[in-house]
Amino acid sequence: MTTEILSVKDGVEKAAKILLSGGIVAMPTETVYGLAADGTNSAAVKKIFEVKGRPSDNPLIAHVHKDYDVSALVHIRQDYVYDLIKAYMPGPLTLVMESKGVICKEAVAGGDTLAIRMPSHEGCQKLLRAVNIPLVAPSANLSKHTSPVSAEHVFNDLNGKIPLILDGGRCSGGIESTVLDVTGNVPRILRAGLITREMVEKIAGGCEIAEHKEGDKVKSPGVKYRHYRPKCDTALFEIDETDKAAALYETELARGRTPYIMCSDDVAEKFKGKNLLLLGKGGDEIAFNLYDKLLDGEKKADIIIAVAFGRCDGVYLGIMNRLKKSCG
Ligand code: TXA
Ligand code: MG
Repeated sequence: MTTEILSVKDGVEKAAKILLSGGIVAMPTETVYGLAADGTNSAAVKKIFEVKGRPSDNPLIAHVHKDYDVSALVHIRQDYVYDLIKAYMPGPLTLVMESKGVICKEAVAGGDTLAIRMPSHEGCQKLLRAVNIPLVAPSANLSKHTSPVSAEHVFNDLNGKIPLILDGGRCSGGIESTVLDVTGNVPRILRAGLITREMVEKIAGGCEIAEHKEGDKVKSPGVKYRHYRPKCDTALFEIDETDKAAALYETELARGRTPYIMCSDDVAEKFKGKNLLLLGKGGDEIAFNLYDKLLDGEKKADIIIAVAFGRCDGVYLGIMNRLKKSCG
């Protein structure tokens, strides 16, 4: 199979046709690229799991356009859910609710909940409107690899395996959506992301962070898997360990290998003259650059030596979750 890359403008009709006839297509969103299929079509959904090599017990998120009536897909049991939808959707927020069973069982991994998201990316909205059905989509990478934030990243992983990549430019967010369990009295973050705990608290009055204990009513199976890993070796240091990071860099160099330091602009000074993958400054910019730098790094480095930021508040919670899994 040859994999075509088309701009949203040139490809949206073709993409809709493929999706409505049971095929799969990569689409842009504001977080990362997704690999989409008709969420009501078991055979189409199975193709996603096959192509990615994804474990079948890890459920998918259903994506809908901004005027889609989500109450057709799920039971909304908590009043704060309406406030969250009003405040943050469309946007990088995914809500887990009790499913009405419209989305096929393969997509929800046989569970009784469904995760729903309304991407804000204009090209994605165009596609969702054109099909007017919920599209289930995981990130458009091979399972365990770093998530793609450009059409080229998708191509590198899935060339020859899917017919079409809709190119909607570089993703503005850079890490996946926040997955929030909203089945209980207090919303609970299952996967941290760009909609922060603080942002949820402001609207819903409270917000917990899941520790994924045995016996939890709603789990996010995805968090138990190794994830986001670049193809080269990695190491991770805290911000007060820049000396250790620099020492490892020198050791690797002495062994004849090519190391790269990945860090924020704030500590770049400490690694003067070294190979650098610079993440920028501040949470939003670091999130935007993280996967792009990991995917750039795996092409030229034998080892990426990442240096963290000394904080876990706001967007940094999601960033640190990804950094620990990709480099820790
Ligand atoms: O930003 C995003 O969310 C991207 C773009 C493409 O929309 N999608 C994405 O999908 O990251 P994926 O499949 O790579 O990650 C989905 C996460 C997994 O951790 C999965 O376990 C969790 O959401 N999830 C999906 N359905 C769930 C459910 N019913 N209950 C609990 N967790 C669920
Ligand atoms: Mg993923």
